[in-house]
Amino acid sequence: MSFAGTGKIWMNGSLVDWADAKIHIGSHVIHYGSGVFEGARCYDTARGPACFRLDAHIRRLYDSARIYRMEYPLAAAGFQEAVLETIRANAFKACYIRPLIYRGYAALGVDPFPCPVHAAIMLWEWGRYLGPEALERGVDVRVSSWTRSAPNTFPSLAKSAANYANSQLIKMEAIVEGYSEGIALDATGQVSEGSGENVFLVRDGVLYTPPLAASILPGITRDSVITLARDLRYDVREQAIPREMLYIADEVFFAGTAVEITPVRSIDKITIGTGKRGPVTEAIQAAFFGLIDGTAPDTHGWLTCVHPDPAPTGAFGTATAKAR
Ligand SMILES: Cc1ncc(COP(=O)(O)O)c(C=O)c1O
Repeated sequence: MSFAGTGKIWMNGSLVDWADAKIHIGSHVIHYGSGVFEGARCYDTARGPACFRLDAHIRRLYDSARIYRMEYPLAAAGFQEAVLETIRANAFKACYIRPLIYRGYAALGVDPFPCPVHAAIMLWEWGRYLGPEALERGVDVRVSSWTRSAPNTFPSLAKSAANYANSQLIKMEAIVEGYSEGIALDATGQVSEGSGENVFLVRDGVLYTPPLAASILPGITRDSVITLARDLRYDVREQAIPREMLYIADEVFFAGTAVEITPVRSIDKITIGTGKRGPVTEAIQAAFFGLIDGTAPDTHGWLTCVHPDPAPTGAFGTATAKAR
């Protein structure tokens, strides 16, 4: 993934050119990681460009900011509208969405309070996070030698920049050793999550995923998978997962905005199931991508159209808006 380097970036309410979207080197966030952010996607759907669960992402952004005592003077609904406005300004049909709230430039003690709270929204085109074939063929991963943050250290429910120091260690170790990704354990030795995605496993038709207490980010894709799987009448259990349960699973898959639903075909060089995408993973992928390509109805109201529907016209004021 590389940036096109063009288009507009939203900064504190103004749309600025990509090249001018700069902050001072003395900004608190650069030195102490005092920022929280989101990663959401806008998809090119049968109804036109539409954001997937934008309200849930902005809610998590504001939750993260609250945990770090940052108050941004714009209500969540206004922030959501700013995301839509930025997509419209860039005329994207599909893009990755990166909103941030961070501490700016004023003083450089550890105390962040003197520093102003700023916000920005960046967009760019981002295809398949783990490669174009990953969704079908799956990826090879390892259990990381790095542990996820212990409880009461770095709050895992906050998507804070600081947490991604740990994620980078997990990711770099995996890459250097020839794997696509690492799965980290929590401080008690139970399965936690990947460097940038939640993990599910399937055994005897039952889905298992670690609970929020396993130092995971409360993934919005994770929540969507749980909902879709239950719609499909699967039993889904959020429970502590010992490491070795990964090796004997019939299927393992990642869930996250970047990876979407990506099968895992081996862990620590142990083949998972048949080493191919399994039927449960495929059913969840079909339900998830069906929402986006319009083959499944948006029964949970997860899509927010970027362009509002045109006003109803026609005889007796009946809606004639065509699916775009
Ligand atoms: C550490 C971590 N876990 C899980 C996820 C998945 O979260 P979501 O589905 O909301 O993208 C992400 C992605 O942001 C992540 O960075």
